Amino acid sequence: MRTVHSLKELRSILRSYRQQGKTIGLVPTMGNLHEGHISLVRKAVESADIVVTSIFVNPMQFGAGEDLDKYPRTLNEDQEKLAAAGNTLVFAPSADEIYPEGLARQTKVVVPEVSEGHCGASRPGHFEGVATVVTMLFNMVQPDVAVFGEKDFQQLAVIRKLVRDLMIPVQVVGAPTIREDDGLAKSSRNGYLSEDERARAPAVYQTLCATAEQLRQGRNDFRTLEQEACNALTGAGLRPDYFNIVNSQTLKPASNNDRELTLLVAAFLGTTRLIDNLSVNR
Ligand code: PAJ
Repeated sequence: MRTVHSLKELRSILRSYRQQGKTIGLVPTMGNLHEGHISLVRKAVESADIVVTSIFVNPMQFGAGEDLDKYPRTLNEDQEKLAAAGNTLVFAPSADEIYPEGLARQTKVVVPEVSEGHCGASRPGHFEGVATVVTMLFNMVQPDVAVFGEKDFQQLAVIRKLVRDLMIPVQVVGAPTIREDDGLAKSSRNGYLSEDERARAPAVYQTLCATAEQLRQGRNDFRTLEQEACNALTGAGLRPDYFNIVNSQTLKPASNNDRELTLLVAAFLGTTRLIDNLSVNR
């Protein structure tokens, strides 16, 4: 497995694979890889001849006061895990390589509607940063297939929308959320949690499951259910940012006729913000 840091090297290696008729899979990440990321790499290995995993902590998607500086950077460990999973090439550029003229001068990709509520409302500019860097990665790698986790449900919806709207010739594949034994969704940010916070964190998934069960039993007073879920999170010592029951396609607030629903949650434990989601069909 090779690691390259420049766009020039990336393009030259990919050109030769393409000349050999190989299909290319892409897994975009910010590194500090865990079993969730590796499951995406395995899926990409099944779907394409060669797999490129990008590792780039994208400054454009972090807001002022967020964790850009303390975000864990663990390239050596990441390389070992990727090699073991059958990854072909790691693309680990610097911020200068991606934004040579700086962030203020960067052309941006803005995805309306699906990026507006939920995390988009709490983190202004976040999805512009994600949509812009993912579009750039698609142009740099020109993959046949790209794999993203359902863990970031709204992000996946934003990427599917921009691929459709900008006619980008890539197949977007979603992969299920990988969890710890107690249900907590694996995340690089779980490493920020103190022992006490880590013990409370499973309440996020427990609240999703309990609310999903209420929906399956036929409750459709969505706004009351959302409030009850927030109360449950508060009771468990978390600070809910939002708990929203939405139409799985539009991400708009659920209404009675919707059959495919998704529960989206973000909650703070201290300064750490955890997100998770669960889909329910009725
Ligand atoms: P990052 O948080 O590193 O996640 C990279 C990919 O791994 C995303 O597609 C995410 O949904 C997926 N992922 C994370 N935790 C997962 C889990 N527990 N189970 C399954 N998949 C999981 O998401 C980003 O980076 C960035 O926004 C990026 C798309 C790379 C753009 O900068």
